[in-house]
Amino acid sequence: MIILVGYATIEGQTRKIAEAIAANIEAAGDRALLFDITSGAEYALGHPEAAILCAPVHAARYPHAFASFVRQEASWLNGVPSAFVSVSMLIRSEFEEEQEEATHFPDGLLAETGWKPARVHHAAGALRYTEYDFFKRWIIRRMAEHENAPTDVSRDHEFTDWVALKAFVDDVLTLAKA
Ligand SMILES: Cc1cc2nc3c(=O)[nH]c(=O)nc-3n(C[C@H](O)[C@H](O)[C@H](O)COP(=O)(O)O)c2cc1C
Repeated sequence: MIILVGYATIEGQTRKIAEAIAANIEAAGDRALLFDITSGAEYALGHPEAAILCAPVHAARYPHAFASFVRQEASWLNGVPSAFVSVSMLIRSEFEEEQEEATHFPDGLLAETGWKPARVHHAAGALRYTEYDFFKRWIIRRMAEHENAPTDVSRDHEFTDWVALKAFVDDVLTLAKA
């Protein structure tokens, strides 16, 4: 089966997540079409039979180009088994209200685009302090302080649960083949 793995990324973690999803798909004997939605490249998608789209939350929303892509492709996406991976930091918060808030990040996107993915997975992202400029590092460090996330800015911190992600992909593959 051919599965589109479309992603948007700003700092690179969602690309890493999409690559892991594609590797899981290929390991299961299927074909993954890895596509960077924000690349602006023309996409010749062929005929994917399912889709897993991934996008990060920045300032409480998904990248604009990602939302445009979903809006444009919504009717196709709704016609095949499809799934969404929302990448955020809030989902790893130790405060239940914040985790709950993170589970609602997709609501606006899905309402606005009409996309109805069969499955939604919430993956924790990464803090790449060493790659941020001074201003961004300051903002993200304050956010991390508030959420009890690591504030050691001398290195990067990755929170993605790769085992949970693989279980999600296996679930989507089962669904897609049902
Ligand atoms: C400028 C900036 C703003 C962010 N805003 C949020 C936010 O509002 N909520 C949240 O849960 N995570 C937020 N994050 C955390 C990102 O979702 C996390 O770093 C993720 O790994 C970024 O994915 P990417 O590397 O694919 O861009 C923010 C990160 C950055 C750098």
